[in-house]
Amino acid sequence: MIITLTPNPAVDHTSIVDCLKVGTVNRFQYSYLDPAGKGINVSRMVHRLGWPTIAFGFLAGELGVIVEKALTDEGVDYHFVRIPGQTRLNTTIVERTSGTATSLHGPGPAVDGEHIARLENLLRFWLQAGRVLVLAGSLPPGVPTDIYATYLHLAHAKGVKTILDADGEPLRRGVAARPYLIKPNVAEAERLLGRALPDLPAVVDGARELARCFGAIVVISMGAQGAVCIQGEKGWHAVPPAVERHSTVGSGDAMVAGLAVALARGDNIVEGLQMGTAAGAATAMTPGTALGTVEDVAALLPRVEIAELR
Ligand SMILES: Nc1ncnc2c1ncn2[C@@H]1O[C@H](COP(=O)(O)OP(=O)(O)OP(=O)(O)O)[C@@H](O)[C@H]1O
Ligand SMILES: [Mg+2]
Repeated sequence: MIITLTPNPAVDHTSIVDCLKVGTVNRFQYSYLDPAGKGINVSRMVHRLGWPTIAFGFLAGELGVIVEKALTDEGVDYHFVRIPGQTRLNTTIVERTSGTATSLHGPGPAVDGEHIARLENLLRFWLQAGRVLVLAGSLPPGVPTDIYATYLHLAHAKGVKTILDADGEPLRRGVAARPYLIKPNVAEAERLLGRALPDLPAVVDGARELARCFGAIVVISMGAQGAVCIQGEKGWHAVPPAVERHSTVGSGDAMVAGLAVALARGDNIVEGLQMGTAAGAATAMTPGTALGTVEDVAALLPRVEIAELR
């Protein structure tokens, strides 16, 4: 079982207009609603890859029902703690003429101590059946920034492997609790290290430093340039095949799903890196927030190149 946690899910509302005019009424050609949230995406991709998974987190109001319905339609299991208020609606307007996207993101509904305790009890129970716990994304108001660290300790006590995919303070506090694997992208790794990583050698150095400091497997993803992975003294650079890029939203989450499946299966990290790279590339081929199909992942898998770093 791969357990994912998304403390701050959202519904993405995307509208497509020809030309966006500020300060007046714009008519969109079409618009759609998608469930969003990093751990939720990880569960959706894990499910496509054929592994059992349950998505956990907080949901509120009618928008929470939209997230649950989308997961039900895809056959993904979930168990969310219901909280008062309304799950975030993140609005994006895509302008067809320029190709630009303008987004408005909310903070999410506040969570109180009672609901945090309810989630912790749920996780304590399900960790008994878990092989891998994925902690992913931002935190809503009211949730302490050390919550990932708390859950990492709980998981390790139960022998469950952990993946942390976060940013800023939750990542900083989380890495101190020694997750099994972290997967920052370059910008997140730069913020964690407090320095720029302008090229591949700098990314490799940065990944080595993070692996040394926190005793974790470190995967730094670099979009179309693939990913660098450091495990102890060893390292690899995974390069995805060239694909027709539509939208890379969710590529990182798909990569985390591939890594999580490999950890759950007991495969070595290179197999996880290969699967994650294929799943990320397959997701880059799909428009908007859509994730890659299992057929595309399978077709891309043998075309991923893995070079060992010296
Ligand atoms: N344009 C692309 N072509 C091929 N593969 C890609 C492309 N973009 C991303 N990928 C694959 O997906 C992986 C993760 O992508 P990326 O580095 O963009 O993650 P991220 O920034 O964490 O994304 P997310 O928005 O999901 O958090 C990359 O390491 C790569 O293997
Ligand atoms: Mg990411």
